[in-house]
Amino acid sequence: MRVEKLFDGVYRIDRKIATINSDPNVKVYNEELIKNDGIEYRSWNPYRSKLAAAILNGLKTFSINEKTNVLYLGAATGTTASHVSDIAHNGNVFCVELSERNMRELMHLCERRKNMFPILCDANNIDFYINDVGMCDVIYQDISAKEQALIINKNSRMLKKNGYAYFIIKSQSIDISKSPKEVFEHELSLLSDEFEVLEKIDLEPYDSMHLFVVLRKKA
Ligand SMILES: C[S@@+](CC[C@H](N)C(=O)[O-])C[C@H]1O[C@@H](n2cnc3c(N)ncnc32)[C@H](O)[C@@H]1O
Repeated sequence: MRVEKLFDGVYRIDRKIATINSDPNVKVYNEELIKNDGIEYRSWNPYRSKLAAAILNGLKTFSINEKTNVLYLGAATGTTASHVSDIAHNGNVFCVELSERNMRELMHLCERRKNMFPILCDANNIDFYINDVGMCDVIYQDISAKEQALIINKNSRMLKKNGYAYFIIKSQSIDISKSPKEVFEHELSLLSDEFEVLEKIDLEPYDSMHLFVVLRKKA
């Protein structure tokens, strides 16, 4: 079995990508566990996680490492957040999620993983969690809502200067009367005061609905 390091905490094993499982022998979303040389990896499914899809499609700016503090907006049941937690195993992953149903599952995951913290809240209401979260190195936002740009702009108060944000835009949640390209351009124009755009990654063939954008907060 050939294991190649792609980024801190991210590996390619044969044709799959994977992270090192920080909760040994436990699966989060029925992913494959792969053992090699005494290390247990969790296969990272690009059809279930847009971050995995972006990595496989050539993401260059990967700014999460073992000590990173991540504010994760739209954590759902923790599929991607669990891999982020594997990578940032000595950091913190603050998981904001609006749906109580998703939160119930996410809470079980956070009980098992000491660096994941659940926050049941609308990501528009930053006053609810700003003091608990403090300043972060990275924001990851995957929220299918009309006000996606507004949400990341508000939350950027918790992002350090020159910190990175991974922003996933779903055009259909914003305006179905316009082409996805028009919607993406308009959303990015709303971020230009706070952020510079570093990368735009198409997620085909894993996902056809979203654009994955890498941002850096202006100094
Ligand atoms: C596409 S799913 C996220 C999938 C997840 N990022 C993953 O890869 O595992 C979007 C999530 O955003 C949540 N959401 C939608 N609006 C929200 C808001 N205003 N604040 C917080 N979460 C929100 C939804 O409940 C849903 O769980």
